[in-house]
Amino acid sequence: MTPYAAHLRTLLRRYDAALAATDFDAVVIGAGMPAGIFGDDQEHPYRAEPRFVQWAPLLAHPGSLLAYRPGRKPVLCVHLPDDYWHQAAPVPEGEWLQLLDVHLVSERRLAVKAALALTGLRHTAVLGDPAQWAGLDLPGVVNPVPLVTRLDYDRAIKTPWEVDNIRRANVLGIVAHEAVAEGFAQGLSEFELGLLFLAACGQTDAELPYPAIIAANENGATLHYQHRRRERLTGSRRRSLLVDAGCSFAGYASDITRTHAARPGEFSTMIEDLERAQQRLCRRIAPGVPFAGLQLAAHHEVAGLLARWGLVRMAPGEMVDACVTDHFLPHGLGHLLGLQVHDVGGGLAGPGGGELPRPDRFPRLRLTRTLEPGQVVTVEPGIYFIDSLLARLRSGPHRRAVDWPRIEALRGYGGIRIEDDVLVTDDGCDNLTRGAAQVA
Ligand code: GLY
Ligand code: MN
Ligand code: MN
Repeated sequence: MTPYAAHLRTLLRRYDAALAATDFDAVVIGAGMPAGIFGDDQEHPYRAEPRFVQWAPLLAHPGSLLAYRPGRKPVLCVHLPDDYWHQAAPVPEGEWLQLLDVHLVSERRLAVKAALALTGLRHTAVLGDPAQWAGLDLPGVVNPVPLVTRLDYDRAIKTPWEVDNIRRANVLGIVAHEAVAEGFAQGLSEFELGLLFLAACGQTDAELPYPAIIAANENGATLHYQHRRRERLTGSRRRSLLVDAGCSFAGYASDITRTHAARPGEFSTMIEDLERAQQRLCRRIAPGVPFAGLQLAAHHEVAGLLARWGLVRMAPGEMVDACVTDHFLPHGLGHLLGLQVHDVGGGLAGPGGGELPRPDRFPRLRLTRTLEPGQVVTVEPGIYFIDSLLARLRSGPHRRAVDWPRIEALRGYGGIRIEDDVLVTDDGCDNLTRGAAQVA
Protein backbone atom coordinates (compact mmCIF):
# COMPACT_ATOMS: atom_id res chain seq x y z
CA MET A 1 0.00 0.00 0.00
CA THR A 2 1.38 3.43 -0.92
CA PRO A 3 1.76 6.04 1.83
CA TYR A 4 -1.07 8.09 0.28
CA ALA A 5 -3.33 4.98 0.17
CA ALA A 6 -2.70 4.36 3.86
CA HIS A 7 -3.37 8.05 4.56
CA LEU A 8 -6.64 7.89 2.63
CA ARG A 9 -7.69 4.80 4.56
CA THR A 10 -7.19 6.70 7.83
CA LEU A 11 -9.08 9.69 6.45
CA LEU A 12 -12.02 7.48 5.39
CA ARG A 13 -12.12 5.88 8.83
CA ARG A 14 -12.06 9.27 10.55
CA TYR A 15 -14.75 10.75 8.32
CA ASP A 16 -16.95 7.62 8.63
CA ALA A 17 -16.82 7.87 12.42
CA ALA A 18 -17.26 11.66 12.52
CA LEU A 19 -20.21 11.64 10.09
CA ALA A 20 -21.92 8.82 11.98
CA ALA A 21 -21.41 10.55 15.33
CA THR A 22 -22.93 13.80 14.07
CA ASP A 23 -25.81 12.35 12.01
CA PHE A 24 -24.58 13.28 8.56
CA ASP A 25 -24.41 10.76 5.75
CA ALA A 26 -22.30 12.63 3.20
CA VAL A 27 -19.84 15.49 3.00
CA VAL A 28 -18.75 17.97 0.34
CA ILE A 29 -15.45 19.78 0.88
CA GLY A 30 -14.53 22.85 -1.16
CA ALA A 31 -11.06 23.82 -2.31
CA GLY A 32 -12.01 27.49 -1.88
CA MET A 33 -12.01 30.43 -4.26
CA PRO A 34 -9.75 33.49 -4.26
CA ALA A 35 -11.33 36.47 -2.52
CA GLY A 36 -11.89 39.56 -4.65
CA ILE A 37 -10.15 42.82 -3.81
CA PHE A 38 -12.71 45.42 -2.80
CA GLY A 39 -13.48 47.88 -5.59
CA ASP A 40 -11.10 46.18 -8.01
CA ASP A 41 -11.19 43.45 -10.65
CA GLN A 42 -8.23 41.62 -9.08
CA GLU A 43 -8.14 38.93 -6.42
CA HIS A 44 -6.15 38.22 -3.28
CA PRO A 45 -3.72 35.31 -3.65
CA TYR A 46 -5.52 31.98 -3.57
CA ARG A 47 -4.82 29.52 -0.76
CA ALA A 48 -6.32 26.05 -1.08
CA GLU A 49 -8.46 25.12 1.90
CA PRO A 50 -6.68 22.73 4.25
CA ARG A 51 -9.60 20.34 4.73
CA PHE A 52 -9.67 19.78 0.95
CA VAL A 53 -5.88 19.51 0.65
CA GLN A 54 -5.84 16.74 3.24
CA TRP A 55 -7.73 14.59 0.68
CA ALA A 56 -6.26 16.01 -2.51
CA PRO A 57 -2.90 17.80 -2.54
CA LEU A 58 -4.01 20.26 -5.22
CA LEU A 59 -2.83 23.75 -4.33
CA ALA A 60 -3.74 25.65 -7.51
CA HIS A 61 -7.18 24.45 -8.57
CA PRO A 62 -9.66 26.86 -6.96
CA GLY A 63 -13.29 25.90 -7.36
CA SER A 64 -12.55 22.16 -7.06
CA LEU A 65 -14.35 19.96 -4.55
CA LEU A 66 -14.27 16.57 -2.92
CA ALA A 67 -17.49 14.67 -2.17
CA TYR A 68 -17.67 11.60 0.04
CA ARG A 69 -20.39 9.26 1.14
CA PRO A 70 -19.35 6.40 3.44
CA GLY A 71 -18.94 3.16 1.56
CA ARG A 72 -18.48 4.87 -1.84
CA LYS A 73 -15.33 5.93 -3.67
CA PRO A 74 -14.65 9.61 -2.96
CA VAL A 75 -15.40 11.92 -5.88
CA LEU A 76 -12.81 14.57 -6.76
CA CYS A 77 -13.96 17.30 -9.13
CA VAL A 78 -10.99 19.23 -10.47
CA HIS A 79 -11.98 22.66 -11.73
CA LEU A 80 -10.22 23.50 -15.02
CA PRO A 81 -11.98 26.64 -16.25
CA ASP A 82 -12.01 27.45 -19.92
CA ASP A 83 -10.57 30.97 -19.56
CA TYR A 84 -8.30 32.84 -21.93
CA TRP A 85 -7.44 35.53 -19.36
CA HIS A 86 -5.91 33.09 -16.92
CA GLN A 87 -4.31 29.71 -17.39
CA ALA A 88 -5.69 26.74 -15.50
CA ALA A 89 -3.13 24.78 -13.51
CA PRO A 90 -2.06 21.54 -15.22
CA VAL A 91 -4.30 18.49 -15.08
CA PRO A 92 -3.17 16.66 -11.95
CA GLU A 93 -1.17 13.48 -12.31
CA GLY A 94 -0.09 10.77 -9.92
CA GLU A 95 -0.87 7.34 -8.63
CA TRP A 96 -2.97 8.79 -5.80
CA LEU A 97 -5.67 9.88 -8.27
CA GLN A 98 -6.54 6.22 -8.96
CA LEU A 99 -8.00 5.97 -5.48
CA LEU A 100 -10.54 8.68 -6.23
CA ASP A 101 -13.34 9.00 -8.77
CA VAL A 102 -11.88 11.97 -10.67
CA HIS A 103 -13.95 14.34 -12.82
CA LEU A 104 -12.34 17.18 -14.75
CA VAL A 105 -14.92 19.97 -14.98
CA SER A 106 -14.78 23.28 -16.79
CA GLU A 107 -17.72 24.74 -14.88
CA ARG A 108 -18.36 24.64 -11.17
CA ARG A 109 -22.03 23.76 -11.59
CA LEU A 110 -20.82 20.49 -13.18
CA ALA A 111 -18.76 19.82 -10.06
CA VAL A 112 -21.84 20.37 -7.91
CA LYS A 113 -23.83 18.06 -10.21
CA ALA A 114 -21.22 15.31 -9.79
CA ALA A 115 -21.22 15.82 -6.03
CA LEU A 116 -25.01 15.61 -5.88
CA ALA A 117 -24.97 12.42 -7.95
CA LEU A 118 -22.95 10.88 -5.12
CA THR A 119 -24.52 12.49 -2.09
CA GLY A 120 -28.12 12.68 -3.42
CA LEU A 121 -30.60 14.47 -1.21
CA ARG A 122 -29.08 13.00 1.90
CA HIS A 123 -28.15 14.89 5.03
CA THR A 124 -24.96 16.43 3.72
CA ALA A 125 -22.35 18.55 5.47
CA VAL A 126 -20.76 21.21 3.26
CA LEU A 127 -17.30 22.28 4.43
CA GLY A 128 -15.23 25.34 3.56
CA ASP A 129 -15.56 29.10 3.23
CA PRO A 130 -19.32 29.62 2.66
CA ALA A 131 -18.59 32.36 0.09
CA GLN A 132 -17.38 29.75 -2.42
CA TRP A 133 -20.84 28.15 -2.70
CA ALA A 134 -22.66 31.36 -3.65
CA GLY A 135 -25.09 30.79 -6.53
CA LEU A 136 -24.32 27.06 -6.82
CA ASP A 137 -27.47 25.72 -5.19
CA LEU A 138 -25.70 23.06 -3.15
CA PRO A 139 -28.01 21.74 -0.42
CA GLY A 140 -26.54 20.87 2.97
CA VAL A 141 -25.50 22.19 6.36
CA VAL A 142 -22.51 24.52 6.05
CA ASN A 143 -19.63 23.87 8.47
CA PRO A 144 -21.59 22.12 11.22
CA VAL A 145 -19.65 22.68 14.42
CA PRO A 146 -19.91 19.15 15.91
CA LEU A 147 -18.51 17.60 12.71
CA VAL A 148 -15.81 20.22 12.18
CA THR A 149 -14.73 19.85 15.82
CA ARG A 150 -14.26 16.09 15.49
CA LEU A 151 -12.29 16.49 12.27
CA ASP A 152 -10.10 19.19 13.85
CA TYR A 153 -9.44 17.04 16.89
CA ASP A 154 -8.39 14.07 14.72
CA ARG A 155 -6.24 16.24 12.47
CA ALA A 156 -3.72 16.76 15.27
CA ILE A 157 -2.52 13.19 14.72
CA LYS A 158 -0.63 13.06 11.45
CA THR A 159 -0.54 10.01 9.21
CA PRO A 160 2.90 8.81 8.04
CA TRP A 161 2.17 10.42 4.62
CA GLU A 162 1.52 13.76 6.33
CA VAL A 163 4.66 13.45 8.45
CA ASP A 164 6.66 12.77 5.30
CA ASN A 165 5.28 15.94 3.71
CA ILE A 166 6.21 17.99 6.77
CA ARG A 167 9.67 16.40 6.69
CA ARG A 168 10.11 17.42 3.05
CA ALA A 169 8.86 20.93 3.83
CA ASN A 170 11.61 21.02 6.44
CA VAL A 171 14.29 19.96 3.95
CA LEU A 172 13.22 22.81 1.66
CA GLY A 173 13.17 25.17 4.61
CA ILE A 174 16.65 24.24 5.80
CA VAL A 175 18.09 24.70 2.29
CA ALA A 176 16.50 28.15 2.10
CA HIS A 177 17.63 29.12 5.62
CA GLU A 178 21.20 28.16 4.73
CA ALA A 179 21.05 30.40 1.65
CA VAL A 180 19.83 33.28 3.81
CA ALA A 181 22.59 32.72 6.37
CA GLU A 182 25.18 32.99 3.60
CA GLY A 183 23.49 36.10 2.23
CA PHE A 184 23.50 37.71 5.66
CA ALA A 185 27.22 37.04 6.00
CA GLN A 186 27.66 38.90 2.68
CA GLY A 187 25.75 41.90 4.00
CA LEU A 188 22.55 41.65 1.93
CA SER A 189 19.42 43.60 2.86
CA GLU A 190 16.22 42.12 4.33
CA PHE A 191 14.64 42.50 0.90
CA GLU A 192 17.45 40.66 -0.87
CA LEU A 193 17.46 37.94 1.77
CA GLY A 194 13.72 37.44 1.20
CA LEU A 195 14.37 36.90 -2.50
CA LEU A 196 17.20 34.49 -1.71
CA PHE A 197 14.88 32.44 0.50
CA LEU A 198 12.31 32.14 -2.29
CA ALA A 199 14.89 31.30 -4.93
CA ALA A 200 16.50 28.63 -2.75
CA CYS A 201 13.23 26.82 -2.00
CA GLY A 202 11.66 27.49 -5.40
CA GLN A 203 8.42 28.89 -3.98
CA THR A 204 6.65 32.20 -4.39
CA ASP A 205 5.74 34.37 -1.42
CA ALA A 206 2.12 33.27 -1.80
CA GLU A 207 3.11 29.59 -1.77
CA LEU A 208 4.90 29.82 1.59
CA PRO A 209 2.83 28.63 4.54
CA TYR A 210 3.10 32.05 6.20
CA PRO A 211 4.78 35.36 5.40
CA ALA A 212 8.51 34.96 5.99
CA ILE A 213 9.88 37.08 8.85
CA ILE A 214 13.29 38.48 7.88
CA ALA A 215 14.24 40.89 10.61
CA ALA A 216 17.56 42.67 10.96
CA ASN A 217 18.74 44.15 14.27
CA GLU A 218 15.96 45.65 16.43
CA ASN A 219 13.31 44.46 13.95
CA GLY A 220 13.73 41.02 15.54
CA ALA A 221 11.91 42.41 18.59
CA THR A 222 8.67 42.55 16.57
CA LEU A 223 7.49 38.95 16.78
CA HIS A 224 5.78 38.86 13.37
CA TYR A 225 7.82 41.61 11.67
CA GLN A 226 6.40 41.96 8.16
CA HIS A 227 8.49 44.53 6.26
CA ARG A 228 11.53 44.14 4.01
CA ARG A 229 14.00 46.99 4.36
CA ARG A 230 15.85 47.61 1.10
CA GLU A 231 18.91 49.10 2.80
CA ARG A 232 22.12 47.09 3.12
CA LEU A 233 23.58 47.54 6.58
CA THR A 234 27.34 47.84 6.72
CA GLY A 235 30.03 47.68 9.41
CA SER A 236 28.89 47.90 13.01
CA ARG A 237 25.33 48.78 11.89
CA ARG A 238 24.89 45.14 10.84
CA ARG A 239 24.40 43.27 14.11
CA SER A 240 21.84 40.44 13.94
CA LEU A 241 19.25 38.70 11.82
CA LEU A 242 16.18 36.74 12.94
CA VAL A 243 14.63 34.60 10.19
CA ASP A 244 11.32 32.84 10.87
CA ALA A 245 10.34 31.23 7.58
CA GLY A 246 9.01 27.91 6.39
CA CYS A 247 8.17 26.17 3.16
CA SER A 248 5.28 24.13 1.88
CA PHE A 249 5.25 20.58 0.52
CA ALA A 250 2.00 19.08 -0.80
CA GLY A 251 0.21 21.72 1.26
CA TYR A 252 2.02 20.87 4.54
CA ALA A 253 4.12 23.45 6.34
CA SER A 254 7.48 23.77 7.98
CA ASP A 255 7.99 26.55 10.52
CA ILE A 256 11.64 27.25 11.27
CA THR A 257 13.42 30.09 13.04
CA ARG A 258 17.13 30.79 13.18
CA THR A 259 18.93 33.80 14.62
CA HIS A 260 22.35 34.93 13.41
CA ALA A 261 24.97 37.29 14.78
CA ALA A 262 27.05 39.36 12.40
CA ARG A 263 30.24 38.56 14.32
CA PRO A 264 31.48 36.53 17.27
CA GLY A 265 30.88 38.14 20.66
CA GLU A 266 28.33 38.45 23.42
CA PHE A 267 25.29 38.14 21.17
CA SER A 268 26.58 35.09 19.29
CA THR A 269 27.23 33.38 22.63
CA MET A 270 23.71 34.21 23.73
CA ILE A 271 22.36 32.59 20.55
CA GLU A 272 24.37 29.44 21.25
CA ASP A 273 23.12 29.33 24.84
CA LEU A 274 19.49 29.74 23.82
CA GLU A 275 19.90 27.08 21.14
CA ARG A 276 21.18 24.61 23.74
CA ALA A 277 18.18 25.43 25.95
CA GLN A 278 15.87 25.00 22.94
CA GLN A 279 17.36 21.58 22.20
CA ARG A 280 16.84 20.54 25.82
CA LEU A 281 13.18 21.54 25.48
CA CYS A 282 12.86 19.65 22.19
CA ARG A 283 14.15 16.49 23.85
CA ARG A 284 11.33 16.69 26.41
CA ILE A 285 8.70 16.18 23.70
CA ALA A 286 7.13 12.75 24.37
CA PRO A 287 3.72 11.10 24.65
CA GLY A 288 1.88 11.95 27.86
CA VAL A 289 3.60 15.30 28.36
CA PRO A 290 1.18 18.22 28.87
CA PHE A 291 2.46 20.96 26.57
CA ALA A 292 1.53 23.66 29.11
CA GLY A 293 4.15 22.13 31.44
CA LEU A 294 6.81 22.64 28.79
CA GLN A 295 5.80 26.28 28.56
CA LEU A 296 6.73 26.67 32.22
CA ALA A 297 9.95 24.74 31.62
CA ALA A 298 10.80 27.21 28.85
CA HIS A 299 10.42 30.08 31.31
CA HIS A 300 12.82 28.33 33.69
CA GLU A 301 15.34 27.97 30.85
CA VAL A 302 14.97 31.65 30.01
CA ALA A 303 15.37 32.62 33.67
CA GLY A 304 18.53 30.54 33.92
CA LEU A 305 20.01 32.34 30.94
CA LEU A 306 19.03 35.83 32.11
CA ALA A 307 20.72 35.06 35.44
CA ARG A 308 23.79 33.50 33.81
CA TRP A 309 24.24 36.43 31.47
CA GLY A 310 23.89 38.79 34.43
CA LEU A 311 20.99 40.67 32.86
CA VAL A 312 18.68 40.01 35.80
CA ARG A 313 20.08 39.55 39.30
CA MET A 314 17.50 37.19 40.77
CA ALA A 315 17.39 33.45 41.42
CA PRO A 316 15.89 31.81 38.30
CA GLY A 317 12.95 30.26 40.19
CA GLU A 318 12.11 33.59 41.76
CA MET A 319 12.34 35.27 38.36
CA VAL A 320 9.76 32.84 36.94
CA ASP A 321 7.45 33.12 39.95
CA ALA A 322 7.57 36.93 39.75
CA CYS A 323 6.74 36.83 36.00
CA VAL A 324 9.96 38.70 35.16
CA THR A 325 10.61 36.21 32.34
CA ASP A 326 7.28 37.15 30.72
CA HIS A 327 8.87 40.47 29.75
CA PHE A 328 11.49 38.63 27.68
CA LEU A 329 9.40 35.69 26.37
CA PRO A 330 5.88 36.97 25.63
CA HIS A 331 4.66 34.14 23.35
CA GLY A 332 3.82 30.46 23.58
CA LEU A 333 6.52 27.81 23.34
CA GLY A 334 4.87 26.24 20.31
CA HIS A 335 1.79 25.02 18.49
CA LEU A 336 0.52 22.18 16.34
CA LEU A 337 1.87 22.19 12.79
CA GLY A 338 0.48 20.62 9.63
CA LEU A 339 -1.80 21.83 6.87
CA GLN A 340 -1.74 25.22 8.57
CA VAL A 341 1.23 26.71 10.31
CA HIS A 342 -0.89 27.15 13.43
CA ASP A 343 -2.80 23.96 12.92
CA VAL A 344 -6.29 23.54 14.30
CA GLY A 345 -7.38 21.67 17.40
CA GLY A 346 -4.57 22.60 19.82
CA GLY A 347 -6.98 23.57 22.59
CA LEU A 348 -9.68 20.91 22.15
CA ALA A 349 -10.54 18.83 25.19
CA GLY A 350 -11.83 15.91 23.13
CA PRO A 351 -13.47 14.90 19.83
CA GLY A 352 -16.81 16.10 21.17
CA GLY A 353 -15.43 19.58 21.75
CA GLY A 354 -14.83 21.76 24.77
CA GLU A 355 -11.77 23.96 25.16
CA LEU A 356 -9.01 22.95 27.54
CA PRO A 357 -8.44 25.84 29.93
CA ARG A 358 -5.40 27.93 29.03
CA PRO A 359 -3.14 28.45 32.03
CA ASP A 360 -3.88 31.86 33.63
CA ARG A 361 -0.21 32.65 33.33
CA PHE A 362 -0.05 31.83 29.61
CA PRO A 363 -3.34 32.94 28.04
CA ARG A 364 -1.87 32.95 24.53
CA LEU A 365 -0.68 29.35 24.54
CA ARG A 366 -2.10 27.76 21.37
CA LEU A 367 -1.40 24.18 22.40
CA THR A 368 -2.82 22.93 25.68
CA ARG A 369 -3.32 19.26 24.78
CA THR A 370 -1.28 16.44 26.22
CA LEU A 371 1.17 15.18 23.62
CA GLU A 372 0.31 12.03 21.66
CA PRO A 373 2.23 10.03 19.05
CA GLY A 374 1.68 11.47 15.58
CA GLN A 375 1.38 15.10 16.65
CA VAL A 376 3.86 17.53 15.14
CA VAL A 377 4.59 20.57 17.29
CA THR A 378 6.94 23.51 17.13
CA VAL A 379 9.40 24.28 19.92
CA GLU A 380 10.35 27.93 19.70
CA PRO A 381 11.61 29.64 22.84
CA GLY A 382 12.83 33.20 22.49
CA ILE A 383 14.38 36.06 24.39
CA TYR A 384 13.60 39.54 23.08
CA PHE A 385 14.34 43.14 23.97
CA ILE A 386 10.93 44.71 23.32
CA ASP A 387 10.63 48.39 24.25
CA SER A 388 7.05 48.29 25.55
CA LEU A 389 7.66 45.22 27.74
CA LEU A 390 10.96 46.59 29.05
CA ALA A 391 9.18 49.83 29.96
CA ARG A 392 6.72 47.81 32.07
CA LEU A 393 9.56 45.94 33.76
CA ARG A 394 11.29 49.23 34.43
CA SER A 395 8.27 50.63 36.20
CA GLY A 396 7.61 47.45 38.19
CA PRO A 397 8.84 46.10 41.52
CA HIS A 398 11.84 44.22 40.10
CA ARG A 399 13.42 47.09 38.20
CA ARG A 400 16.48 47.19 40.48
CA ALA A 401 17.34 43.58 39.66
CA VAL A 402 17.89 44.44 35.99
CA ASP A 403 21.19 45.55 34.44
CA TRP A 404 19.69 48.37 32.38
CA PRO A 405 22.87 49.59 30.65
CA ARG A 406 23.45 46.11 29.20
CA ILE A 407 19.81 45.72 28.25
CA GLU A 408 20.06 49.08 26.51
CA ALA A 409 23.04 47.84 24.50
CA LEU A 410 21.20 44.65 23.54
CA ARG A 411 18.08 46.46 22.31
CA GLY A 412 19.86 47.00 19.01
CA TYR A 413 19.96 43.22 18.46
CA GLY A 414 16.19 42.76 18.68
CA GLY A 415 15.99 39.26 20.04
CA ILE A 416 16.68 35.58 19.61
CA ARG A 417 14.27 32.83 18.61
CA ILE A 418 15.17 29.26 17.65
CA GLU A 419 12.38 27.07 16.29
CA ASP A 420 12.25 23.42 15.23
CA ASP A 421 9.38 21.13 14.21
CA VAL A 422 9.19 18.00 16.33
CA LEU A 423 7.20 14.79 15.79
CA VAL A 424 5.88 12.99 18.86
CA THR A 425 6.77 9.29 18.43
CA ASP A 426 5.63 6.23 20.38
CA ASP A 427 8.50 6.52 22.82
CA GLY A 428 9.80 10.06 22.52
CA CYS A 429 10.30 12.41 19.62
CA ASP A 430 11.92 12.95 16.25
CA ASN A 431 13.19 16.46 15.49
CA LEU A 432 12.17 16.84 11.83
CA THR A 433 14.08 20.10 11.37
CA ARG A 434 17.42 18.82 12.69
CA GLY A 435 16.86 15.61 10.73
CA ALA A 436 16.30 17.68 7.60
CA ALA A 437 19.58 19.49 8.24
CA GLN A 438 21.36 16.12 7.96
CA VAL A 439 20.00 15.43 4.47
CA ALA A 440 19.68 18.97 3.03
N1 GLY B 1 5.98 31.64 12.21
C1 GLY B 1 4.96 31.83 13.18
C2 GLY B 1 5.22 31.06 14.37
O1 GLY B 1 6.34 30.69 14.63
O2 GLY B 1 4.33 30.70 15.10
MN1 MN C 1 5.84 28.59 15.10
MN1 MN D 1 7.83 30.43 13.17
